[in-house]
Amino acid sequence: MFSEAPLLVGLEIGTSKICAAVGEENDRGEFTLLGIGQARSRGVRKGEIVDPAKAQEDVRTALANAEEQAGVTIGNLFLGVTGRHVEGFNNVGMHPVASDDRLVTPQDIADAAANAKAITLPAEHTVLHTIRQRVCIDGEEVVDDPVGMVGHKVEAHVHVIHGSAVRIQNPVNLVRALSIEVNHTVFNGLADAQAVLTPEDKENGALVIDIGGGTTEFVFQQGQGIRQSGVFAIGGDHISNDIAIGLKLNLGMAESLKIKCGSAVVDPSCHGRRVPIGEDDHGIKSREVSVEHLRRIMSVRIQEIFELIAERCSEGCFLDEARAGVFLCGGGAHIPGIDVLAQRVFHLPVTLATCRNITGNSTTLSHPEFSTAIGIARYGGMRLRGRPRPRFNLRDVFPFFR
Ligand SMILES: Nc1ncnc2c1ncn2[C@@H]1O[C@H](COP(=O)(O)OP(=O)(O)O)[C@@H](O)[C@H]1O
Ligand SMILES: [Mg+2]
Repeated sequence: MFSEAPLLVGLEIGTSKICAAVGEENDRGEFTLLGIGQARSRGVRKGEIVDPAKAQEDVRTALANAEEQAGVTIGNLFLGVTGRHVEGFNNVGMHPVASDDRLVTPQDIADAAANAKAITLPAEHTVLHTIRQRVCIDGEEVVDDPVGMVGHKVEAHVHVIHGSAVRIQNPVNLVRALSIEVNHTVFNGLADAQAVLTPEDKENGALVIDIGGGTTEFVFQQGQGIRQSGVFAIGGDHISNDIAIGLKLNLGMAESLKIKCGSAVVDPSCHGRRVPIGEDDHGIKSREVSVEHLRRIMSVRIQEIFELIAERCSEGCFLDEARAGVFLCGGGAHIPGIDVLAQRVFHLPVTLATCRNITGNSTTLSHPEFSTAIGIARYGGMRLRGRPRPRFNLRDVFPFFR
């Protein structure tokens, strides 16, 4: 198929799997998914590369699979990043209105924004994204263009996402060693939001949570702004580990028991229910385990993850402003009852997320574990196209998700 549109490739180097999504956008910005390539991930722990040789082999396999499925050759891509080193926080930059007539100029706003970005980051950290939240003149939020308004003080509120420069560079180098160009890096949580939220969800405010193998990412988006974001180095692997310890099983058995009989809620139907488990690699004889015990272990860990996110989101913003509710994605979204547990913790409507406003194979788009790679590719399209028009003209100050 001949197409003028640039190929948009998103790569997620996950703890459980490597996933590459290939798509393209038409001139109206509508995204079509052309293919997905996957490989198991053997060189990544908690979202970070620990065995570069294995990780590189797996990335090569995932990209080759994506090329085959989409019928394309991949020469460049957008790369997702995560890991416990990635952090998001809110900051405010202030600047006095310089002119005698107190008319706000673009330079005043740019200076306030620069002050908001001039934060002291942890040593060796670099800024991944600076995202506009709002601009205030003399403490009042300006919903339109602040240039030309009268005031004494400009305040730029921003959300900054940063991470360790070295740990961000590792996956970039790994991809480049395969002779593939990395156009840009993006925080996985932001990418998820691009894949699973509609413009209406964003406008209403939505909390997106991605529970993967070794990490959980979250982003609270409102309009084009980000209210809060972050990563916890806890995921599905920790749930399996808890099961292995609690029920005295090896990790492989714990993982398959989780998939077969697991749930995030302990309901009356599982009281007294027991399931047989096979002989393990060490010859431990088959025995039965309590389904209630299994689910209790799972619900405690998942509740802990949700409570950590709720606590982080309560810093500087209010979760009940996420009026579109909570959107769950990543492989962890497959856990039965996870939406019920999320509803109990967040007291918000909960949606098991699928990729929205995207054309392509509907089965693929409904897999919550593909949302990050697809969202990265979509983010790539937004970057190439330039950000959607903001409510006021701050294009030069806050280019889209810089
Ligand atoms: N049906 C299921 N029930 C419980 N957990 C599941 C299920 N399917 C996948 N998972 C878990 O999801 C995690 C992998 O999610 P994924 O988003 O693919 O991870 P990553 O992006 O970190 O590679 C694993 O911990 C896996 O056990
Ligand atoms: Mg993931």
